[in-house]
Amino acid sequence: MRKKIIAGNWKMNKTPSEAKALAEAIVTKAEGASCDVVICPTAICIPAAVEATKGSNVAVGAQNVHFKESGAYTGELAANMLTEAGVKYVIIGHSERRQYFGETDETVNLRTKAALAAGLLPIVCVGESLTEREQGIMDDTVRRQTKIALLGVSAEDAKKVTIAYEPVWAIGTGKTATADQADEVCGIIRETVKTLYGSEVSDVIRIQYGGSMNAGNAAELLAKPNIDGGLIGGASLKPDDFAVIIGAAK
Ligand code: 13P
Repeated sequence: MRKKIIAGNWKMNKTPSEAKALAEAIVTKAEGASCDVVICPTAICIPAAVEATKGSNVAVGAQNVHFKESGAYTGELAANMLTEAGVKYVIIGHSERRQYFGETDETVNLRTKAALAAGLLPIVCVGESLTEREQGIMDDTVRRQTKIALLGVSAEDAKKVTIAYEPVWAIGTGKTATADQADEVCGIIRETVKTLYGSEVSDVIRIQYGGSMNAGNAAELLAKPNIDGGLIGGASLKPDDFAVIIGAAK
């Protein structure tokens, strides 16, 4: 049995004082949850989130990590800076980073390896664009993204990775993949992991769905056999809605 994982990607929202208040509200709502709960604020809000979640079952994640240990990389954060700040998880290769900030499959792979080397748990995002779905090549896209992200990652380390399947056309659009569509692609990702490492890894690796998951559709999505959790944007900023999603992840 894979433990489900519900992660909130706060994206570029909340100031530090707002993040503190939101994290405190989520800590209260997440008490006794039967899934892993993660909140991913902006880097500047990480200290406030770590402080607010201390001693709770809510972990803190970052939204990105650089692959070098230190050096002349203005604006970037190294993995050991995140671990020292109390961060446990890190989102890597989100489609917004691929779309707006030049993230490639290759840099996703470098970041994944750097995160694992520092003891961070990567949440690696994959997912097809609308054009790729319409052209019927979504399988090729998620297979390629998954394989390159995991290049050179050992089987033991691969077990620590969570893969988030986020179809780009469903992010922030209110369009959710149907539960069957999401389960199908999460299944393709699991098969891909099996071809790389065998069932020892593919049976334990967690695969989330992300893209307009909300309080109304979470239960149906999370009931699917290949969906082990959710990476939630908009609804993760609303503690009551996020609580419903956490409650649906049994
Ligand atoms: P929304 O839930 O706002 O569609 O965002 C999904 C997402 O991108 C999470 O990483």
